[in-house]
Amino acid sequence: MKRETPIMDHPFYQPAGNEIEVFEQAWRNRLPLLIKGPTGCGKTRFVAHMAARLGLPLHTVACHDDLTAADLVGRHLIGDGKTVWCDGPLTRAVREGGICYLDEVVEARKDTTVVLHPLADDRRILPIDRTGELLQAPPSFMLVVSYNPGYQNLLKGMKPSTRQRFVSLRFDFPTPVQEEAILIGETACTPDLARRLVGIAGALRALKDRDLEEAASTRLLIYAALLIKGGMDPVAACRTAIVESLTDDIDTVEALMEVVAATFGR
Ligand SMILES: Nc1ncnc2c1ncn2[C@@H]1O[C@H](COP(=O)(O)OP(=O)(O)OP(=O)(O)O)[C@@H](O)[C@H]1O
Ligand SMILES: [Mg+2]
Repeated sequence: MKRETPIMDHPFYQPAGNEIEVFEQAWRNRLPLLIKGPTGCGKTRFVAHMAARLGLPLHTVACHDDLTAADLVGRHLIGDGKTVWCDGPLTRAVREGGICYLDEVVEARKDTTVVLHPLADDRRILPIDRTGELLQAPPSFMLVVSYNPGYQNLLKGMKPSTRQRFVSLRFDFPTPVQEEAILIGETACTPDLARRLVGIAGALRALKDRDLEEAASTRLLIYAALLIKGGMDPVAACRTAIVESLTDDIDTVEALMEVVAATFGR
């Protein structure tokens, strides 16, 4: 559920627009940031890049429907007959003045809003009921949340009182030129292979009549590029890395494979 990402050399990130400036401005002005966008479009990578760029520790929490406020804030643990308080990732980020990144925040239990609201507005405080502490977030602390506004999240949504505490960034699929640069940066594939895969992605994303839950992500193109670079036949690589990950419906698979065949032949 929780992991700590060590500060590393800036992980590669290909900007799409003004998102680096927005992040830096938000951080400087002590504003929390919400990032929304489809799967595999670079949200997590962007946050890791920005944490490294700003030299801040990053605490990432993958939210799920059982995640409670205590999972974020911390809890008393019992061992050797003693009770010891253990900070959660949100509390650690506040104490350290780092970034707390809540991935898929709409999944978390509703009780998490109680701790997020006072931290995400101008008060910037984290009350820890169980220890009686009231932490004031240092200037360098930043709260970042992300979610995928795909149809499965429409019902859950986010309360206006939560949304309106954040500066918001919309991520989408990169332009072809940017996506080729991402593929080359991530896999060191040839420009020709990058161009072909990005072309396939464009054609697949344009297939409106196919009932795909979500369009082909940059992540899947990277998988295909890696398999092809490893020596796999391009058609087979696209089937396994892209098409089969998009749908279970066999007719749809065959229709999507037509697009692949148009680029790589049979
Ligand atoms: N702009 C980008 N610059 C560099 N790499 C990128 C970029 N966009 C996507 N990628 C690559 O695509 C992969 C998927 O990106 P990432 O994990 O950040 O997606 P995400 O938006 O967090 O998806 P999810 O909603 O599924 O968590 C990354 O591992 C990275 O290789
Ligand atoms: Mg992610």
